[in-house]
Amino acid sequence: MKLVFKTPAKINLGLFILGKRPDGYHDLETLFQMVSLYDTVELESLANRIELVCDDPRVPIDESNLMIRAARRLQETVPEKTGLGCRMVLKKKIPMGAGLGGGSGNAAGVLRGLNRLWDLKLQTAALSEIAAELGSDIPFFLCAPSALGQGRGERLTALPPPKKFHVILVFPRVSMATAEVYQALNFDLTKNSKNINILREFFSQSNIASLGAHLHNDLEPVVIQRLPVITRIKQKLNSLNADGTLLSGSGSVVFGIFENSQEAREAYARCGEEDWDTFLTETVSSFSEFMPENLLNYP
Ligand code: C5P
Repeated sequence: MKLVFKTPAKINLGLFILGKRPDGYHDLETLFQMVSLYDTVELESLANRIELVCDDPRVPIDESNLMIRAARRLQETVPEKTGLGCRMVLKKKIPMGAGLGGGSGNAAGVLRGLNRLWDLKLQTAALSEIAAELGSDIPFFLCAPSALGQGRGERLTALPPPKKFHVILVFPRVSMATAEVYQALNFDLTKNSKNINILREFFSQSNIASLGAHLHNDLEPVVIQRLPVITRIKQKLNSLNADGTLLSGSGSVVFGIFENSQEAREAYARCGEEDWDTFLTETVSSFSEFMPENLLNYP
């Protein structure tokens, strides 16, 4: 059997840092949303060996790769099953070091896909536990297209998807390292009274204009200090009638949201004139938009 499926990118419509924890991570509240930019993953059984190939030479294909780590962790949970292995092929479209969770989505896809391929019958709760050990953003990709994340981002509440809206992703072709961005966070700056509730409210009402006006990311000022181009991208998207713009996660992608499809298409064309990689996407409302049936309905 060969499994072929897509794994999506995410944006954070809100990211509020609540405090630093003894374990070095930060407690946060975030509003995750999947968007329709996808990598493709192929999985095939291979006795006793785990292999990864990728069409993008910048992707590390050694033991540091989250897909390989996910496969190994899954293997360890079923020591009684001998001979398990797989060949994984990754076709990369989602920019890396971009704050779009591409690698996290790939890892979540491997957990889900190998659960099926190896017929392990693990429930989502068990997969999510492994996912949280591998990275803070990975459980989200197993949860729902829209979700509230708390704790490190791994404690999730699925949210009903709002009416679809358009999202332009602009990657300035520079990557950010997540750990460095969090380290540079000046904690006093984040002791503000803002919280995610108002954003959640507008999100649930599909009030895109108000949602756009209240997008917030505590990491954005940190990244703007290092990458002034972020401000230029925001200005450009705003001048092209975006309902709102924000840095996604720890960057470097800036996204603009648009209720109006004509305006989104125009803005996409205009951003394409710059030295940036630009993607026109829309919000994902259901796993069935990108996942084949044999994965959707398993176990
Ligand atoms: O969990 P993940 O490996 O994706 O996190 C990468 C880095 O981002 C962590 O090592 C940590 O420095 C930072 N981080 C954080 N608080 C979070 C999530 C990530 O400080 N909630």
